[in-house]
Amino acid sequence: MVFLPFLAYTLMCIQAKLTEDELKDFLQNTYEKEASQKCYKANIAEFNYETDIRSKTKEETVTNTTLETAAWEKDIWKKYFSDITPNDYTDPSLKRQVRTLHILGNALTNATNQMTGIYSTGKICPYSKQDCDVTKEGLSLEPGIEDIIAKSTDFDELVYIWKAWRDVTGAKMKDLYKTYVTLSNEAAVANNSDHIYLKDFSDKGAYWRDDYEDPNFVQNMDDLWTQVEPLYTELHKYVGRKLKQRYGSKLDISDGLIPAHVFGNMWAQSWNNIADLVRPFPNVSKVDVDSALKKQGYTVLDLFKTADEFYQSLGLLPMGVCYNESAGAMINKPTDGREVLCHASAWDFCDGNTFRLKMCTQINFEDFITIHHEMGHIQYYLQYKNQPYSFREGANPGFHEAIGDTIALSVATPTHLRKINLLTNYTDNDETSINSLMDMALDKIAFLPFGLLIDKWRWDVFSGSVPESKWNSHWWEYRTKYQKVRPPVKRSDESDFDPGAKFHVPGDSQYIAYFLAHILQFQFYRSLCIAAEQYNPEDKTVPLHKCDFYKSVAAGDKLRDGLKLGSSKHWSETLEIMTGTKEVSAEPLLEYFEPLYKFLKNENEKYDNYLKNKPQLKVNIFVLFLTHIKNNDNGTVFSSNNETVSSEKQDKLSNDDNKNVNGGGTD
Ligand SMILES: *[C@@H]1O[C@H](CO)[C@@H](O)[C@H](O)[C@H]1NC(C)=O
Ligand SMILES: *[C@@H]1O[C@H](CO)[C@@H](O)[C@H](O)[C@H]1NC(C)=O
Ligand SMILES: *[C@@H]1O[C@H](CO)[C@@H](O)[C@H](O)[C@H]1NC(C)=O
Ligand SMILES: *[C@@H]1O[C@H](CO)[C@@H](O)[C@H](O)[C@H]1NC(C)=O
Ligand SMILES: *[C@@H]1O[C@H](CO)[C@@H](O)[C@H](O)[C@H]1NC(C)=O
Ligand SMILES: *[C@@H]1O[C@H](CO)[C@@H](O)[C@H](O)[C@H]1NC(C)=O
Ligand SMILES: *[C@@H]1O[C@H](CO)[C@@H](O)[C@H](O)[C@H]1NC(C)=O
Ligand SMILES: *[C@@H]1O[C@H](CO)[C@@H](O)[C@H](O)[C@H]1NC(C)=O
Ligand SMILES: [Zn+2]
Repeated sequence: MVFLPFLAYTLMCIQAKLTEDELKDFLQNTYEKEASQKCYKANIAEFNYETDIRSKTKEETVTNTTLETAAWEKDIWKKYFSDITPNDYTDPSLKRQVRTLHILGNALTNATNQMTGIYSTGKICPYSKQDCDVTKEGLSLEPGIEDIIAKSTDFDELVYIWKAWRDVTGAKMKDLYKTYVTLSNEAAVANNSDHIYLKDFSDKGAYWRDDYEDPNFVQNMDDLWTQVEPLYTELHKYVGRKLKQRYGSKLDISDGLIPAHVFGNMWAQSWNNIADLVRPFPNVSKVDVDSALKKQGYTVLDLFKTADEFYQSLGLLPMGVCYNESAGAMINKPTDGREVLCHASAWDFCDGNTFRLKMCTQINFEDFITIHHEMGHIQYYLQYKNQPYSFREGANPGFHEAIGDTIALSVATPTHLRKINLLTNYTDNDETSINSLMDMALDKIAFLPFGLLIDKWRWDVFSGSVPESKWNSHWWEYRTKYQKVRPPVKRSDESDFDPGAKFHVPGDSQYIAYFLAHILQFQFYRSLCIAAEQYNPEDKTVPLHKCDFYKSVAAGDKLRDGLKLGSSKHWSETLEIMTGTKEVSAEPLLEYFEPLYKFLKNENEKYDNYLKNKPQLKVNIFVLFLTHIKNNDNGTVFSSNNETVSSEKQDKLSNDDNKNVNGGGTD
């Protein structure tokens, strides 16, 4: 995942008694050049720092550059733009630039750098040696800790790792976060004497939401969630049952919540790492790209080249420059002792030539998909590089996050993987289709509630609607309500700060874009599939999820038509160009997952039904045992040593789950 280099948003307020022609001239010539140069300098400083975060000099350079840029912005504002509004001008593009160029950066780097420093240097001792010398033997998040969370099935080890990561990150930055919130809010209010805005933001959350140019944004995000929630609920229920099977009496899911540490992911935001456990048809042919990559001896560079080739097959621009390490990119974790911010990101240095990826790539399918995601950002940068500076952004931040994922939806189809020889010995049938949709759901559907809740929590924090004393418990209210997960160990408002254990929180990077992107990408995908004539909504025999638009120039054209606009039009117009509709809708997502939804609903109902048959259950365990096997559902009931207790627990779960399903609304 990526966030845009933050200074791309750091602009000035264009206001002056300039005539229309004068303003145009100023923007096209002086401003364009100077702003691009400032942006270049700031992003180079930031990139250098993030690829060597122990360097005090590089950190100081970031601070100095930020202050310098802020001073320049203020100066320009005073000289030229003190009292104009968009309505003083007639040219629509000019009006829109005036609207866009209203945000002055704020010098938050100190608190943010300290927090990301804590995050990215956080190390923990391994479970087997908890009193280790952490500097020498400690594990860092990538790859060490993430690897354990992904692979271990030792319940207690997972609890330990989950807690230890939160102890060395979130818990250590709580006070810094308080400072950060105060400074962020001060910088967001219009009448703060140090900052100049065209419009008033009540707090930092409102300032972030402004990017979406939608007065009903919060409500609209909630409505999208309501659309997709039934699918999430069925998935959660199905997966919970499989996890119970794995962990037996160690795992209590009797309240309808699943402990957050058993999903194979530190934040339970993506469940792909437990795919082997939850795969509906475990003994049909399997999509195993990892071993194909290994067998064929793929290098990190090969992964990037393969991804680049897909984009080019659509007639889009080559992106070799962004993964060329001789030209400054970082696609391998350095081995020269530097500490770096590994979190993958894509960079636009604002000079029309310099674009870089930064990633600690590993050779596996997950990172292969991440590469497509990051390249989506780069392709966007390249496509809109000729727009005026202030329009060199996504139509909104959700668009930026959705592009690479749209491509990856096509790349990850068994249809495509076979074409590029990364999938052999595969039979396409109903069972393998459900399996492959499940793999997708473990990534995309599992993510949705997490994608929504991070910023819902931050909006509440910034607006002050939740007091500092309740920050952590409020976080868990949302985790419970949306994700239906619960902390594996007791949390405290005094000593814990669990949001800080997720990169984007210390990183001052907004998150709702990812939620929106997870909805939008299915709209884009469907539209590109239709353009490529690989999908016809009228033809029910070919489902959406099998579409691969590889080598379709028509699909590439459709994508490019949207990308090249940057933010020069309201996103709803860009969306219309790309998909034929102005509305964000979860319908294409639901259409894509329709076969899986039916399957899950059916399986869950079947399971509920025989559990409801409680008298029988108690009368003859053995008969039920047979029924159970016949249903090919090796559920909780019989996986424990203590059958009676276990079956009652399971019963309770199914009731609670039904309540949740029927409860509607928020969860
Ligand atoms: C940052 O600015 C300070 C004050 O102007 C200066 O002393 C220092 O050398 C600068 N640091 C770097 C790394 O440029
Ligand atoms: C940044 O934070 C450190 C540690 O709290 C403090 O010593 C320093 O003065 C701060 N720098 C600025 C520019 O606020
Ligand atoms: C901004 O204005 C509001 C209302 O006019 C006032 O309550 C608030 O203190 C002001 N904030 C600053 C930073 O001046
Ligand atoms: C799949 O596994 C089940 C039971 O585990 C077995 O009955 C069935 O024959 C297997 N199917 C295939 C195609 O191997
Ligand atoms: C192909 O799959 C079948 C069934 O899953 C398996 O028996 C066979 O060994 C596989 N062949 C290869 C070459 O992997
Ligand atoms: C990578 O960048 C270097 C330095 O700019 C250049 O000499 C080289 O040709 C580039 N490699 C590729 C494959 O483009
Ligand atoms: C069923 O559960 C038992 C006990 O947990 C386990 O040993 C077995 O492998 C499971 N079978 C399947 C098909 O999942
Ligand atoms: C089984 O459950 C009963 C009732 O809760 C309990 O008394 C007993 O100790 C359990 N047996 C085992 C082997 O866990
Ligand atoms: Zn991204």
